[in-house]
Amino acid sequence: MILKMKILAIESSCDETGVALYDTEEGLLGHELYSQVKLHAEFGGVVPELASRDHIRKTIPLTKKLLKETKIELKELDAVAYTAGPGLVGALLVGASIAHSLAFALGIPVVAVHHMEAHLLAPMLENPAPNYPFIALLVSGGHSMLVEVKEFSQYHTLGESVDDAAGEAFDKVAKMLNLPYPGGPAVAKLAEQGDPNTFKFTRPMINRPGLDFSFSGLKTQVLNTSKKIDLNNNQQKADLAASFQEAVVDTLLIKCRRALEQTNLKTLVIAGGVSANKRLREKLAILQNNQNIEIFYPRLEFCTDNGAMIAYTAAQHLLHGSACNDFIVKPRWRVDDIILQSTP
Ligand code: KG4
Ligand code: ZN
Repeated sequence: MILKMKILAIESSCDETGVALYDTEEGLLGHELYSQVKLHAEFGGVVPELASRDHIRKTIPLTKKLLKETKIELKELDAVAYTAGPGLVGALLVGASIAHSLAFALGIPVVAVHHMEAHLLAPMLENPAPNYPFIALLVSGGHSMLVEVKEFSQYHTLGESVDDAAGEAFDKVAKMLNLPYPGGPAVAKLAEQGDPNTFKFTRPMINRPGLDFSFSGLKTQVLNTSKKIDLNNNQQKADLAASFQEAVVDTLLIKCRRALEQTNLKTLVIAGGVSANKRLREKLAILQNNQNIEIFYPRLEFCTDNGAMIAYTAAQHLLHGSACNDFIVKPRWRVDDIILQSTP
């Protein structure tokens, strides 16, 4: 097996085009990101067809820019990776088509990467990186889940959202408060000026055993409260945002602690867009100080979607002798179903 490999990766699962180059010996060589936020802002959310068309426009110029900046030539590449799922099917197809065409032309393998596996491995790009085994809390726009990571490619979902994902709840609450898309960062920013104790929202599902989440009831409570307050009064809006955020953060924290206790593990990895949330990080830092646990995050720019995490994950699959030349796109794909692909 060749141990030194250069991998080009493409992320196109939702509203960000990400490309990255990773060298299995030298680490991350570079990455580029193009966010479609402005494109979708006027619609208040991601429009899948517009997302796909924009990935078509941006992926190749972004790849050329990355190759130029890293001074790497196409012929130096050993593999091409892309996000195969979960995500928007049209958007995924763009990355898959470009990755497969490029790899076919260069005569090199293709690696189909699971987007959530890449999120949970993103802290591996940091120094210090976590050691296996660990618990991963994955909180993004489409998923909220607690995963037991025994070792690379061995994932067991301990609990997940039965309805809205944490990021989705942030996005919906942002709409109720007339805040711009993307909602999570906007709610978090407004919450900084608010008092989290103003409105007493229930911490969903904490009195039931198990590690599943549910944010839809909390969302309804926020909606009902938003009708009773004056949405033109910034302080009232900020208090509502802070009270909502506190309920989400407390719920995530309680479930993380429960997952660690249940598995007897001491390492916690937090990843996905919501892991950028400052209040979540503050309260997790308190948990880290009070309990004998270690918490790892990706750097802020790698909390949300990016190509670097896809490149890193592909590199690990290649180092484990795993790559696959099949054209795979899976809009729905559980992390528990990840298998090491066979070497072509
Ligand atoms: O992982 P990600 O970039 O994309 C998906 O794979 O879904 O996550 C995006 C989600 C959005 O719902 C966004 O509102 C949320 O992460 N988000 C945040 C923050 N930054 C992003 N939620 C709360 N606080 C933040 N600071
Ligand atoms: Zn994501």
